Amino acid sequence: MDNRPIGVFDSGLGGLTAVKELEKVLPQESLVYFGDTGRVPYGSRSRETVRRYAKQDMAFLMGHGVKAVLAACGTVSSTARDIGESLGVPYFDVVRPTAQAAAAATKNKKVGVIGTSATIHSGSYRAALLSIDYKLQVFSQPCPLFVPLVENAFISPQDEVTRLVAERYLAPLRESGVDTLILGCTHYPIIAPTIASVMGRGVTLIDSGREAAKALARALEEGDLLCDGEEPRKASYFVSDEPESFTGVAELFLGHSVNGATARINIENY
Ligand code: DGL
Repeated sequence: MDNRPIGVFDSGLGGLTAVKELEKVLPQESLVYFGDTGRVPYGSRSRETVRRYAKQDMAFLMGHGVKAVLAACGTVSSTARDIGESLGVPYFDVVRPTAQAAAAATKNKKVGVIGTSATIHSGSYRAALLSIDYKLQVFSQPCPLFVPLVENAFISPQDEVTRLVAERYLAPLRESGVDTLILGCTHYPIIAPTIASVMGRGVTLIDSGREAAKALARALEEGDLLCDGEEPRKASYFVSDEPESFTGVAELFLGHSVNGATARINIENY
């Protein structure tokens, strides 16, 4: 048993899609969330910059005595694969569990991957999918405008701007005939209804935050690292820019309010 909180980080709000799933699979666990809202997006930055940011994010979480860290960010997971190796607590990212779920879901062996430019250009999902099943055909598409659309709450399925952008990005994937589509960025589940309607029926969407949360839950259970459930669950949220705009949109991600318990920190101190 281990009553310390789980640490989760992302470049901004997207990691909250993983938190939402963690709340379902591990409802007793406390957590500390860091969203780097002052430096979002990560997906258009260099590998070196993403690594430096991710190291600071993890140092901040470690300062809160977390028992495990989840990089709930496709960009960090893809471009800084080895970053959790010397952390001292179990480290999880989104790529492997998501690729496993997609490989299990596809029937026609054609899998699409969408993500930030950094995620797609890293080839991380392609490599993970082919290592699971070399017969898979992988079709990838960067969707750099999705993150700013989500961060600015252009998320309604009726939103014409988001729909037009989705149609433009997803047309090649539709034409390739994929039956499974990896949402390789944790921001994307928020616009999943738009993505699903553009892709059409018969395409299974794989949510990377959800798959990572399930993998983390399994690993904590196997490692006897779950909390004893006797203390009330606590969730603390931290951001690197002003908290008000975070708390407003966070509610849409989580399906409940963060109760104003969001603090601003200076991530450059870590
Ligand atoms: N949620 C992050 C990801 O999964 C957002 C990317 C970004 O900051 O550009 O990649």
